Amino acid sequence: MNILVTGGAGYIGTHTIVALISNGHSVVVIDNLINSSRESLRRVEEITDTTIPFYEADLRDYDTLGGIFNEHPIDAVIHFAGLKAVGESTENPARYYRFNVGSTLNLLKIMNEYNVKKLVFSSSATVYGSAPVPYVESHPAGRDITSPYGKTKYMIEEILSDVAMSDSSIEFTSLRYFNPIGAHESGRIGENPTGTPNNLMPYITQVATKQRESLRIWGDDYDTVDGTGVRDYIHVSDLASGHLAALTHSKPGYHVYNLGSGKGTSVLELLRAFEVSTGQKIPYEIAPRRPGDLPEFYADVHLANSELNWQTTKTVEDACRDSWRWQSENPNGYEQ
Ligand code: NAD
Ligand code: UD1
Repeated sequence: MNILVTGGAGYIGTHTIVALISNGHSVVVIDNLINSSRESLRRVEEITDTTIPFYEADLRDYDTLGGIFNEHPIDAVIHFAGLKAVGESTENPARYYRFNVGSTLNLLKIMNEYNVKKLVFSSSATVYGSAPVPYVESHPAGRDITSPYGKTKYMIEEILSDVAMSDSSIEFTSLRYFNPIGAHESGRIGENPTGTPNNLMPYITQVATKQRESLRIWGDDYDTVDGTGVRDYIHVSDLASGHLAALTHSKPGYHVYNLGSGKGTSVLELLRAFEVSTGQKIPYEIAPRRPGDLPEFYADVHLANSELNWQTTKTVEDACRDSWRWQSENPNGYEQ
C-alpha cells in the first residue's frame, strides 16, 4: 500500500514508518516539524535505505493537502499529527482543538474528495478517564477526561465513528495507546522531547546522562503494589507493528483497539528495570502526587490479539536498554 503518514517525523511516526517500509509498503509524509526535526526522517531513510517523499506542511493547510493527494495515489492514511502536551493543553485549550480536531476535519475532507477510505488514528488510553483496570474497549469512554488534550482525542474518535457510519465502505480504526517507551534497536531514532520531559522514561534517561540531577517520583502513597503509580509501558516498536496489523486487518466500519502490553509496572519497578538492564544508577526523591495523575492503569489487549493478530514481543527491560542506547548515543536528540 501507499500510505500517507501525518506527523511521520515524530516519535511514534518514525518507528512506524520503519515497520511499514520493512514490510513492503511505501509512504508519503506530511509534518510541520512543530515538535520534530527533518533529521529524524533522514535517519529513517538511512535505516530503511529508501528515499521518503516528505512535505513540510501543516495539516490545516487544505491546499497543500490537495497537492499531496493529487501527486500521490494514497491507499490509506495513518494519522499521528497532533499536539500532545497535557499541561500545555490546559493552558491553551483552543489551540489544541484547532490543531488536533481542526487538522483531522481537513484530513477527512480531502480523503472524501479523493475517495480514500482507510484511516488509522492515534488515540490514547486517556479517553477512558478513570475506569476499572484493566481498561477494556467496551468500557464507555469520554466520561471524565481530565485534559483538553484528552478531550480532542475523544472528540476525534466520535467524529470518525460518525463518518464511518455514513459510508459502508469506510474502514476507520482508532488505536488507544498506553505508555510508549523505548527506541529503535539501531539507536538512531527515538523520543526527542523539547525542554524538560514530562514523561517518565525520557526523564530517567536524562538523569542517567546527568542532564538532570535526580528523578522526582510523583507520590509513593497510592494504593498500588509499592505506592507509586502503575502504567502499561509498551515498546514503541511493538506499537509500530500494531499499526501494520491494523492496516492488514482493516475492515469496514469503525473499530477501536487498545495497544499496550497488558501488564502494569510501577514507577519503582521501571526504575529498577532500567538500573538492572543498563547498569546506570538513578538517584531519586519522593515528591507530592502530580495533579491529574491516576494511581493505576493498564490495558486489556485481548481484542487486538485476536482481531489484529498482534502481540507484543519486547519486554520493559528491552525498552529500557533501547531508550538508554538512544539517549546515550544522542544526548542532544537530533541536534548534531
Ligand atoms: P510527536 O510530537 O513526536 O509526533 C507528532 C508529530 O506531528 C510531530 O512530528 C509534529 O511536528 C507533527 N504535527 C503536529 N501538528 C501538526 C500539524 N497540524 N500538521 C502537521 N504536522 C503536525 O508525538 P508522538 O509521541 O509520536 O505521538 C504521535 C501521536 O500519538 C499523537 O497524536 C499523540 O497525541 C498520540 N499519542 C502519543 C502518546 C505518547 O505517549 N507518545 C500516547 C498516546 C497517544
Ligand atoms: C501522561 C499524560 C497522558 C499521556 C501520557 C503519555 C498527564 C497527567 N498524563 O500520562 O495524558 O497520554 O503521559 O504521553 O500528564 N512520573 C514520575 N516522575 C516523573 C514523570 C512521571 O513519578 O518525572 C510517574 C507518573 O506519576 C506516573 C508514571 O510515572 O505514575 C508515568 O508518567 P508519564 O510518563 O507522565 O505518563 P502518564 O502519567 O501515564
